[in-house]
Amino acid sequence: MRRLLIQSSVLAFAVALIVSVFALSSAEAKDPKPCISKSFKYKKVEAACKEGGQKAAKKLMKAIVKQAKAKGDKNASECLGCHEDLKKYKNTANAVKWLKPYVE
Ligand code: HEC
Repeated sequence: MRRLLIQSSVLAFAVALIVSVFALSSAEAKDPKPCISKSFKYKKVEAACKEGGQKAAKKLMKAIVKQAKAKGDKNASECLGCHEDLKKYKNTANAVKWLKPYVE
């Protein structure tokens, strides 16, 4: 009986811990997020990330997509052509190559 009591309080502690970790990470999501990448291929992207985190990087990327559309560059006309998803922004195989004309 006593053993059961200890087990259930350990369980309750674990649940409380998990809940508080979740609460913490969702609170963080409201702040301007820094970029995920720590080593950049292009100075322009690095500078945007340093100045304004992912928000600034997105602004830069949106401007690039606009330029690409204007000159009919299909490769660089969509976020998802260069990023596998829009959460972690993992680059697709050609992302760095395709971005080059817009950042150098
Ligand atoms: C032509 C390819 C290309 C397109 C189109 C593109 N990106 Fe990117 N993006 C890149 C590359 C390459 C990097 C990494 C640059 C570096 O390493 O210097 C990057 C980096 C980023 C980052 C920083 C990621 C981090 O480390 O946190 C964000 C955010 C981002 N892109 C958002 C977007 C959004 C939003 C769009 C659409 C509006 C978009 N990108 C369109 C190629 C592209």
